[in-house]
Amino acid sequence: MTIEKSQALVIQTEQDVVLVRQAVRVWATELQFGSVDQTKIVTASSEIARNTLVYGNGGTATLEIVVADSLRKGLRLHFEDKGPGIASVEQALTNGYSTGGSMGLGFGGAKRLVNEFYVETKLGEGTRVTLIRWK
Ligand SMILES: Nc1ncnc2c1ncn2[C@@H]1O[C@H](COP(=O)(O)OP(=O)(O)O)[C@@H](O)[C@H]1O
Ligand SMILES: [Mg+2]
Repeated sequence: MTIEKSQALVIQTEQDVVLVRQAVRVWATELQFGSVDQTKIVTASSEIARNTLVYGNGGTATLEIVVADSLRKGLRLHFEDKGPGIASVEQALTNGYSTGGSMGLGFGGAKRLVNEFYVETKLGEGTRVTLIRWK
């Protein structure tokens, strides 16, 4: 897999979450994703960006256009924070589970909206969530 293009954005405020969402929309358009696929990756990115802000105490989003097998292109997104980490990823992915008193649908929902979903997390160190939506 090669990286054709990448951009890092900070996530420190609600407005930054909006900017990440808008940037993902622009990149998905540039990749000529269909409108349903665009909405999927945009929705997933906005859920994970908000978690980075709220639970990770802010961090970064890195957008990448990746190429596999020299032809298949995708949009890969990394969300990284130096927050408290996630004690149980399985529990965090369960619909209805929230430590913030909210809906608890974002994390698992985002996983279902993309083709690949990876979580690396360590208690006391932080969390990195990677999403890929292939064309
Ligand atoms: N980056 C993160 N750092 C720490 N905890 C997280 C992070 N992202 C998600 N979580 C945990 O996963 C739970 C579920 O996330 P989510 O499904 O988006 O629900 P909600 O945002 O409504 O709480 C959160 O309540 C939180 O406990
Ligand atoms: Mg959430």
